[in-house]
Amino acid sequence: KIPDVGISSLREKGFELDISPKDRPLTKRKLVKALRKKPYDGVLCLLTDTIDGEVFDAVPSAKIFANYAVGTNNINLEEAKKRGITITNTPGALTEAVAEHTLALMFAVVKRVVEGDIFLRKGKYKGWGPELLLGEELQGKTLGILGAGRIGGRVAEVASKGLEMPVIYYDIKKSEEFEKATGATFRATPEEVLKEADVVSIHVPLLPTTMHLINAERLRLMKKTAYLINTSRGPVIDEKALVEALRTGAIRGAGLDVFEFEPKLAKGLAKLQNVVMTPHTASATKSARDGMAKLAAENLIAFFEGRVPPNAVS
Ligand code: GLV
Ligand code: GLV
Repeated sequence: KIPDVGISSLREKGFELDISPKDRPLTKRKLVKALRKKPYDGVLCLLTDTIDGEVFDAVPSAKIFANYAVGTNNINLEEAKKRGITITNTPGALTEAVAEHTLALMFAVVKRVVEGDIFLRKGKYKGWGPELLLGEELQGKTLGILGAGRIGGRVAEVASKGLEMPVIYYDIKKSEEFEKATGATFRATPEEVLKEADVVSIHVPLLPTTMHLINAERLRLMKKTAYLINTSRGPVIDEKALVEALRTGAIRGAGLDVFEFEPKLAKGLAKLQNVVMTPHTASATKSARDGMAKLAAENLIAFFEGRVPPNAVS
């Protein structure tokens, strides 16, 4: 179920909608079965729906798939292109939500917020102590951003302006806009960012080229005192290698909102104290989720009114 604002704006425009009655992801089989029911003109899909040739073939009448997400890694864009199907996403609407959540994870792991919370709930708190649950300060620490898009840009802006964190970044291309907003300096390789940063935050899309961008070898380049934050897509990190790095102290901690085999966690991850996790909820604010619903609806409306959808990705 997506927020009502999206549904109502489509209904107001006279769209007839069939909505999945299940408030959880559909299996591929169920999705294909549901799409075969009618010659639908368009589909609004979620990031949990794998949209590929098989799905397109199940509903050849549908000429647009509006993804309720900014990421489009769940969609086979090449297959869509071959069939002349329009794909749209929902950028912008969730930038602030995800950027703030990234900072929340950063603060939580560096200040050991969740460890402290568990400590209290377990009744372990016996009194104040000068060295109880020592954490760190972020001010002046170097923030490394991988992926200088909207979300990476907003994280870097808040960190540099609010916490006076110097920012270094890697992206496939240098971004003057990003540098102007954050005072960041470009590094020509992800390796350089990993070596220099005290906190590394990942904001790349999931592509064949960013799959396991963070692997065992690259984790070894990071400082032993460094933290890794990921609010992008799980498979960008080799999660097994990350568990090992966290377990052996190769890095100090991690903050994760996304997981390689979501909703499953890599073996051993949940046992670690030095990781703070949330269940892919970085964009889960009322305002972001409403905004995403509005954008997805707007893309569909524009398409059927013969306009170019505002967020066409292909
Ligand atoms: C959330 O993960 C999104 O891509 O919108
Ligand atoms: C800490 O609680 C302090 O008063 O220094």
